[in-house]
Amino acid sequence: MAEEGKSPSGTPIPTKGQAGVVPPPCLLVIFGASGDLTKRKLVPALFGLFREGLLPEEFAVLGISRTPFSDDAFRDHLRDGIAGGSQGTFDQSSWDAFAGKIFYQPGDIGDPESAKALGARIRAVSNERGIPGNLVFYASVAPKFFTPLIRRIGEAGLAAPTEDMPGYRRVVIEKPFGHDLESARELSRNVMDVFREDQVYRIDHYLGKETVQNILVFRFANGIFEPLWNRNYIDHVQITVAEDIGVEGRGDYFEEAGVVRDMIQNHLFQLLSNVAMEPPISLAANDIRDEKVKLLRSIEPVSEEDVGHVCVRGQYAAGEVKGQQVPAYRQEKDVSPGSLTETYAAIRFTIDNWRWGGVPFYLRTGKRLGGRMSEIAIKFRPAPFLLFDKTMSGQLVSNYLVLNIQPEEGIFLKFGAKTPGPSICVEPVEFKFTYEQSFGVKSRPAYGRLLLDAMLGDATLFPRDDTVDISWSLLEPFLSRWKENPGRDLFFYPAGAWGPREAEQLLSREGRTWRIP
Ligand code: BG6
Repeated sequence: MAEEGKSPSGTPIPTKGQAGVVPPPCLLVIFGASGDLTKRKLVPALFGLFREGLLPEEFAVLGISRTPFSDDAFRDHLRDGIAGGSQGTFDQSSWDAFAGKIFYQPGDIGDPESAKALGARIRAVSNERGIPGNLVFYASVAPKFFTPLIRRIGEAGLAAPTEDMPGYRRVVIEKPFGHDLESARELSRNVMDVFREDQVYRIDHYLGKETVQNILVFRFANGIFEPLWNRNYIDHVQITVAEDIGVEGRGDYFEEAGVVRDMIQNHLFQLLSNVAMEPPISLAANDIRDEKVKLLRSIEPVSEEDVGHVCVRGQYAAGEVKGQQVPAYRQEKDVSPGSLTETYAAIRFTIDNWRWGGVPFYLRTGKRLGGRMSEIAIKFRPAPFLLFDKTMSGQLVSNYLVLNIQPEEGIFLKFGAKTPGPSICVEPVEFKFTYEQSFGVKSRPAYGRLLLDAMLGDATLFPRDDTVDISWSLLEPFLSRWKENPGRDLFFYPAGAWGPREAEQLLSREGRTWRIP
């Protein structure tokens, strides 16, 4: 447990406001601030924190990018993102109060003059807002700029406290952290030349989702599930992150990435770690992160030759999603007409430890699938003796425990029950919990929680360097096989389907089926 008065990572908790924990004064410097992420996610999340009273009075955002905005033009640009977004009702007077904390500095961080000017502006904004020096840098730039940006922060003397700007320095780095193992290691070395590991916050926004945080609570705050959470009772686990959207104008990024890099290396491995790790000895950031690394290290590495047996990739062809005709991936903007990039992947992993030996974990994710749905489905072993099978009216009951990540947020357990009537008939029924019904609210945006934690110095929900390293290592044989032969293990599926037919065989040859959401 965290010491009283300290956050789980040991950072002193400065103030307890009515609504929750308020971080100490700080200036958040966002690089790449004219981009979509700032407008659609970061600033709406900060505005939400502000409205909940979770930001300190002495707080400011300083955006930097090449677009020549004035402070006011930048505020107007951000306001449009909030007023037109899905963040609940827009409240002009709260926005006016919040907008006064937002500033903008045009500049190209590659240019040393801009870096100098940025240093001066950081001091000016901090003085104006009474911020005594704590700085969080947020790298929301294209991945190729991570290293030059971090170097420039170091060279400009902004990475370490000074007499006139004391306090902490932290850097938040957006994904993707690297493109493969080698580039991730190189980036890590470059970051560590300027910052210590405890100053680095690598974003995986899945960890900011309430339903993902609830996995550990569900497992370890209740005594009844953990005794069943192992190979003796669990047949297999399916982790699905399905999207109905396509590449949404990000064709150039996606062509380089593909879903294995974009989703499996980070989000799906994090879901897998939460569901399969051992209980940590405390809630301290490093105790939790140690268990996650241990789990990832227990995954059986797949050899390059075996990739074809455990993995099916796919790419969407034209099709119909939500009643609308949509184009093929190859027809999307900035995508090559002969592209062999995967928009779908299903991979079977096994975990070589006492808890999970022999239990397959099937991970699948894709774009332009039949719906938007993320879930972890745990399939329990069947009853040893099917007393009732002759009288079943429906399918044989599969005991599934499903952790719904989104869009429905909750948990349900599927089991068999006797249908009313004179004969014994068994039908599947559900116990169900939803956030909305139990707490009267849907969960909060992931970025708000993560920004707050970065300001509080709590790194629990941020992957550590060794986690990133091991997840790239696990994918290395896959990436290297496809580098040699880019079309391998790749099949097409019509948009709106649940992936290529070949993905069914990954499970059917073992007598299993994908859960139909
Ligand atoms: C991002 C990926 O990390 O996660 C996107 O880059 C993907 O391609 C997104 O669409 C999915 O996030 P969410 O929260 O909508 O499930």
